[in-house]
Amino acid sequence: MTKPDILVIGSYPDWDMEGLREGYTLHDEPGPGIRAVAMKGHRPLDGALMDSLPDLGLIANFGVGYDAIDVAAATERGIKVTNTPDVLTDDVADLAVGMLIAATRHIPQADAYVRAGRWKAEGEYPLLRKVSGKRAGIVGLGRIGRAIADRLAAFQMPISYYSRAPKETPAGWTHHADPAALAAEVDYLVVALAGGPDTVGLVGREAIEALGPEGMLVNISRGTTVDEAALLDALESGALGSAALDVFASEPDLDSRFLKLDNVLLQPHQASATIETRQAMGQLQRDNMAAFFAGKPLLTPVN
Ligand code: 8YV
Repeated sequence: MTKPDILVIGSYPDWDMEGLREGYTLHDEPGPGIRAVAMKGHRPLDGALMDSLPDLGLIANFGVGYDAIDVAAATERGIKVTNTPDVLTDDVADLAVGMLIAATRHIPQADAYVRAGRWKAEGEYPLLRKVSGKRAGIVGLGRIGRAIADRLAAFQMPISYYSRAPKETPAGWTHHADPAALAAEVDYLVVALAGGPDTVGLVGREAIEALGPEGMLVNISRGTTVDEAALLDALESGALGSAALDVFASEPDLDSRFLKLDNVLLQPHQASATIETRQAMGQLQRDNMAAFFAGKPLLTPVN
């Protein structure tokens, strides 16, 4: 039996390539005959690219966020889109909390202090601020936002959140319909929004400044969700205390202003990057493709 033709976008580890090769004839250029795209990474997949794939029926995204894919253009063309929710939620929430603690307690700086012999030469590292019991604000209470909030609640943090409409939550969580009003009430603002046109700059200058000189912004969503120019200005002036960031507007080529700041913890968009989770994401991507080619319901459809 001939294997269906698929276009592979992005770089995959060997285990995914093996899984893809087993079921499909792989292509690295668009063209007729290709029925599905295995999509990975953040390079835009727009209507023009879809038009160079006249037989396309499915875009199977490796990742929960599908902001790189023009879903409206896909829907118009009768192309289905799938993503990989749930399997990465724990990892992303774990890293958000890890970054928050690492940045507050200066874990990277303190490691450097020890390695440089400064502990012995200069004595104790300066005192910092406590994490547990501080006020947490979550921007976007979807699956990942909720997992972060649950973790922070275990650190005795009162939880407030922004979402368009109030969600069902444990008693005592406070809803805000405006990110700046939320920021004014919290010590930590953790951004867990979906990317895409609806959330561009949703955390704007007003919210960043409302968070204030003692506040910390954590972003594990997309660089687009935060006004990055306002964030840099506020970090440089001290209007915002600090930030812990896994995502950037122009990643992986960050604005060089970030590299000069010592009140920001920088991560290479690695929140879902564990072996277990990346294997589960690849499996779910292939399971969606298998369902499509078997004419069965898609497991995690987007449109
Ligand atoms: C990426 C992510 O998918 O799931 C998401 O939305 O941002 C990541 O898990 C991963 O970097 C592969 O592109």
